[in-house]
Amino acid sequence: MSIDRVRIFDTTLRDGEQSPGASMNTEEKLEIARQLVRLGVDVIEAGFPISSPGDFESVRRIGAEVGDAVTVCALSRAIPKDIEAAADALATAKRPRIHTGIGVSKSHLEDKLRITEDEALERAVAAVKLARTFVEDVEFYAEDAGRAEPAYLYRVIQAVIAAGATVVNIPDTTGYAYPEVFGTLIGGLMENVSGIEKAIVAVHCHNDLGMATANALAGVKAGARQVECTINGIGERAGNTALEEVVMAIKQRPDVFGVDTGIVTKEITRTSKLVSSITGIHVQPNKAIVGANAFAHSSGIHQDGVLKERSTYEIIDPVDVGLGGSSIVLTARSGRHALKHRLAELTYEMPEAEFDRVYAAFLELADKKKEVYDEDLEALVGETERTINEVYHLAQIHFTSGEPGIPTATVELVTQEGEHLIDSSHGTGPVDAVYKAINRIVDVDNDLTEFRVEAVTRGIDALGEVTIRIKSADGRIFTGRGAHSDIIVASAKAYTNALNRLLVSQKTTITEEI
Ligand code: KIV
Ligand code: ZN
Repeated sequence: MSIDRVRIFDTTLRDGEQSPGASMNTEEKLEIARQLVRLGVDVIEAGFPISSPGDFESVRRIGAEVGDAVTVCALSRAIPKDIEAAADALATAKRPRIHTGIGVSKSHLEDKLRITEDEALERAVAAVKLARTFVEDVEFYAEDAGRAEPAYLYRVIQAVIAAGATVVNIPDTTGYAYPEVFGTLIGGLMENVSGIEKAIVAVHCHNDLGMATANALAGVKAGARQVECTINGIGERAGNTALEEVVMAIKQRPDVFGVDTGIVTKEITRTSKLVSSITGIHVQPNKAIVGANAFAHSSGIHQDGVLKERSTYEIIDPVDVGLGGSSIVLTARSGRHALKHRLAELTYEMPEAEFDRVYAAFLELADKKKEVYDEDLEALVGETERTINEVYHLAQIHFTSGEPGIPTATVELVTQEGEHLIDSSHGTGPVDAVYKAINRIVDVDNDLTEFRVEAVTRGIDALGEVTIRIKSADGRIFTGRGAHSDIIVASAKAYTNALNRLLVSQKTTITEEI
């Protein structure tokens, strides 16, 4: 008997990017998309093309990059210009999918869209028909289905399937559902919608009550064959179903679900780290599957049990999610070839000029800390990538601090046009002095809302990684990161990175549904 396949639709680059401060540039999205291909997802939702030139470009570049390895999907509202923009952006994709839809709950119809049930149904059908003129694969989302009247939802889903939808997505947009009710809703669709067998039923759950994974799995039990999720569960408000949770639950409990996914689970940890590092959204230590403590046993009784037999307290082998792999250590004597080889094993491939910069940074670090681990290399690659296409590049920094003493900093930034700008300031501490000196040059109104320093590896000589968030005058959040063996330098890099993101941001916030 063949096992049913559940498709994994990853929306880290679209719904995940809707997390405050998680906005990513095209290069970063491409890097995540490449990793999602290695992870084996079936669909990548690459963006919402009408929302900004950046999203349009990301969908276009990801479509061109991934070839026929996965389906590339673009979001649109049930509005012709959205659908046309999605189709244009998907022109490069070998396997394009347009994802279009409209609200179906009373709240969305009456309070947001201010249209009748029949009008929404008409718009849904027209949107699917229009999308089908551009691509063969059209997914329809019934926004806020978790709070909709089932009878109306069935009517809409039946009509969009008849209009040509190949996938019908049932989102619990507000995270209101709970497993029993959500499973019943999906089961009801399977039973009551004529033609349902012609489409794949998808579930898209939000985590407002902490039940996104449970609801998605209840949907799978009731017949859904596509789960929409994000890496580390990031997403709007409390986030989305976490890919790693739903995939590992399906893998660990064949007795319950009896289905399979195409996910290469050994790539989970690496994907989680990449997304956390690019978005600056850290994973809570007790997070299932990918948290730092997910496989840590601290009580003596548990340690004793695990040492005798791992399965006494561990239901997942950490190796299955990509933990506990190689512990290769490079040193300054390892040379270019060894570095290139190790980077390739870590799946980093880059043009020679970029490799030269990583190699120079590697030598500098290896001189200071002697042993360079994979985590250090990942930080160095990230640092090199962040310096591509910067509006301002941090060229030099000098600071003094002490007690007693007046913390003072001088910075030199170089613009894209090659202009060298130098300024100085004092502050309450060295980071404050550095940030004030940078502000004197860049002069962009913002507030620092978060500042975090972490060691990339263990040991006093570890690289320090600084993650910060700033809030722009119009209330948008930007994340910046910087890694260096000196945490004041890392702080300056993180601030320059956040300001660069703010300066290039072109995202238009859509505030109205028409
Ligand atoms: O949560 C939601 O309803 C969505 C749709 C746009 C699919 O993200
Ligand atoms: Zn969503």
